[in-house]
Amino acid sequence: MKIIIDTEENIAKKAAQQYIDLLSKKPDAVLGYATGSTPLGLYAELAALCDAGKISFKDVTTFNLDEYVGLDGTHDQSYRYFMNTNLFEKIDIPIEKTHVPSGLDLDIAAEYDKDIEKAGGIDLQLLGIGVDGHIGFNEPGTPLDSITHVVDLLENTREVNARFFASIDDVPTQAVTMGVKTVMNARDIILIALGKSKAEIVERMINGPITTDVPASVLQLHPSVTVYLDSDAAALL
Ligand code: F6R
Repeated sequence: MKIIIDTEENIAKKAAQQYIDLLSKKPDAVLGYATGSTPLGLYAELAALCDAGKISFKDVTTFNLDEYVGLDGTHDQSYRYFMNTNLFEKIDIPIEKTHVPSGLDLDIAAEYDKDIEKAGGIDLQLLGIGVDGHIGFNEPGTPLDSITHVVDLLENTREVNARFFASIDDVPTQAVTMGVKTVMNARDIILIALGKSKAEIVERMINGPITTDVPASVLQLHPSVTVYLDSDAAALL
């Protein structure tokens, strides 16, 4: 794992540079995206670069990590809606080349890994990390050979995500997520963690044993992971 510690602003710039480098070599790359608070700075940076003509996503295909079960793409807390409003509508990507697992048709969701494979596999997967070590919605205990599947969200994850909903009762109880194996199949991975709340789990991800108790620890086995941390998230390293 390559560890880079910097400010949130510089992390967005440095990570964006990885996208510029990749797309200059491979304009039709397949990108794996994440939702949540963490990638917002990077997405704003990618949108600004696209606006300035410094990067183009017109030949890119994207696959998002996850989606809530039961929310359609027009729901303002669905991950499809998040991606459309925070990134896809702000860059030059044809919307039909963007994929988010279906939270409504689970038979379609079951084909997600095959769809990724047909597109050529993911060149660069972006990840955040949950305070419990989840990547995507792969909660502790998820088998390392898992592919895209439906998960029951842990109460703690629902509580953490309740900040985006009117009340915790509105937070879905299940999600569809790429599996740990789906993520590990990506050729390159960027993981960003920001803030004090991530410090303990970041330390376990990097220095701890590789265990399904900390799903992100499996990234130690991946040949090409860049971890971007702000000083708060890196505080226990
Ligand atoms: C989101 C996702 C999650 C988040 C994680 C961190 O698509 O898959 O694993 O990356 O929960 O969320 P934030 O960035 O909100 O702290």
